[in-house]
Order: sequence, then C-alpha cells, then structure tokens
Amino acid sequence: MDSLNIYQRKLVLFSGKGGVGKTTIASAFALSCARRGERTLLMELNTKDKVSLMFGAGHVGPEIREIEDNLFAVNVTPDAAQEEYAVMILKLRVVYRAVFENKIMRAFLKAIPGLNELVMLGKAYYHVIEENDDGTPTWDKIVVDAPATGHGIFLLQIPSVITSILGSGHLYEEAERILNVMQDPKLTAINLVTLPEEMPVNETEMLLESVRDELKMPLGYVIINALYPQLFSEEELKMMDENRPDLEAGDLVANLIDAAQFRNMRHQMQQGYVEQVHERIDLPAAHVDFHFVDHVDFPTIDSIGASLAEQMGGE
Ligand SMILES: Nc1ncnc2c1ncn2[C@@H]1O[C@H](COP(=O)(O)OP(=O)(O)O)[C@@H](O)[C@H]1O
Ligand SMILES: [Mg+2]
Repeated sequence: MDSLNIYQRKLVLFSGKGGVGKTTIASAFALSCARRGERTLLMELNTKDKVSLMFGAGHVGPEIREIEDNLFAVNVTPDAAQEEYAVMILKLRVVYRAVFENKIMRAFLKAIPGLNELVMLGKAYYHVIEENDDGTPTWDKIVVDAPATGHGIFLLQIPSVITSILGSGHLYEEAERILNVMQDPKLTAINLVTLPEEMPVNETEMLLESVRDELKMPLGYVIINALYPQLFSEEELKMMDENRPDLEAGDLVANLIDAAQFRNMRHQMQQGYVEQVHERIDLPAAHVDFHFVDHVDFPTIDSIGASLAEQMGGE
C-alpha cells in the first residue's frame, strides 16, 4: 500500500478540517511538483489567501499568477470562476452560452444550490483538460486546497447532487464530466490531512468514510502533520527520571529536565494518536514534522515538500 505514487495523478486534492495544515501541505506538495519540473497550478478555493504569505509572493487573487519557477497559484472565487469558466467553456462548446448568458437561465441557475461550488470545481476540471494551441496539455499538475470540512463534504458532493437532481441537460452533462474526472483513479487523488490529536483523528475517520461511500473519489495518503520529533533516547529519558527527584525545584538542571520531560510527554501522546491513525485510517500514511518557526515561510514549505516527495512517490 505504501508504494502509491501520488505524483502520477494530475488532479491532487488535500482535504481535512480547518486548521490541520491543509493549505501548508497543499502548498508544499505543489512546490515539490514544480521542483520536479512539472508545470503546476495551486488552487485555493474561495478562502483568505494564505499562499502568498508562505511564498513571500504578492497577493494571490482570481487571476492565475506565477509565484515560483513552474508554480502558479490562483484563489478561486465563485463569481470570478463563473465568468471565467463560461468564457473558457465557450472555446470548447458554444452551447454553454445558452446556459450562462441567458437572463432567464441565470435567474434559474441562482436557485440551484451548489452552483457556485460546481463552477469552482468546474474550473479545476477545466484546467485538468486545458490544452495549449498546439494540443499539448497546459498543466502537468493541478493541486487543490479543498475547503474545510464542516458538515460533510458539501463542495465535493455538488457534482453528484446536480447529476441526480437534474437528470439531464447541459448542466447535468457538465456536472457529470466533472464527476468523471474527480472519480478517475488514473487522474485524481484526494489526500486527507490530520493532526496527531483526538478530534482531528476522529474527524478524519468520518471524512474517510464519506469520501469512500458518498464521493467515491480515489483516495491517496493520510498526512499526519505537525509531529514533534523525538529528541531524547530511552537511555537519556531514564537518566532524567532517575536524577530528577534529587534536585530542588527551581534548580536550573531541574527546570531543564522538567521541560525535557514535558516535551517528551507531548511526543508520547502524539505517538499514541499516530498509532490510532495507522489502525483506524487504512490509507498509506505520510508524516510531516512540526517546524519551529514564527510563520511557515518559503524554506519551511520547501523542506516539507521535499519530505512529502520522499514519502509519496515523488523521487
Ligand atoms: N508542519 C507545521 N509546522 C509548523 N506550523 C505549521 C505546520 N503546518 C501548519 N502550520 C501552521 O498551522 C496553522 C494552520 O495551517 P494551515 O495550513 O493554514 O491550515 P488549514 O489550511 O488546514 O486551515 C498555520 O499558522 C500554519 O503556519
Ligand atoms: Mg487553509
């Protein structure tokens, strides 16, 4: 199971609950793809742009921008996506005009729940199939920082909801095309990002179930983020245990030992949750260290990316 090579997929999504490090991991993965020489598009979906801060690049908005060699980024908003998508699609199929440029249709579309989400996914889908004038693919890799998972996985469910509601028609066909790409194991993988903590592990288990049963999307890795490295050997820990009781509180060495033991306890707790992830989430796992920095900056992203490449088949 560990030999799964995510780097062979063209559409790679990262999902998980807010705050677990999705944006960080998606950015690091995208950078590692760019480093391999792949022309890579990193997509944030309708969220506060964080990518620019990490890359020390200018603001990333609804226009695709190059932020690093081979690496492009965009923050997709529903409005911008709707307009751009309509224009992009027109190049492919004139019939799309009937949907997006007709007043009555537009009013009708507003009433369809999830259309905005469909259009955002539609943009991801379009970039997957996008071609240059000479017929070569425009992108080698599309990396999607999928929105936080609150109530189920609303956004990713949209295409199948629309296909089941509408049953037929242009929008139905569009949703079905998107769904086909999202569910194609040769093209797509969705990775789940988690933390070695109780709530995130439970939520990841639920997310895994709905990806399997409802979305039916091909799964990639579970990525356990922000792990404290093991700092002390068994022997050192034993030595600290044995010597601590002889020292007075407030003594410098006593303070250091207390800090070391506290740090080790956190490491032990995390290891307990890592084991739970391995037991409960039957996906290959990748591990990412906690980086002790003020904010995750470019060198940090680069180093996380290199570690992901090593673990996820990118070398
Ligand atoms: N491996 C890590 N080491 C240190 N800080 C991290 C790590 N991963 C994420 N962070 C920090 O944790 C916070 C949440 O990460 P972020 O990627 O924005 O999460 P999400 O997109 O899931 O909400 C950010 O401040 C980020 O810099
Ligand atoms: Mg985020």
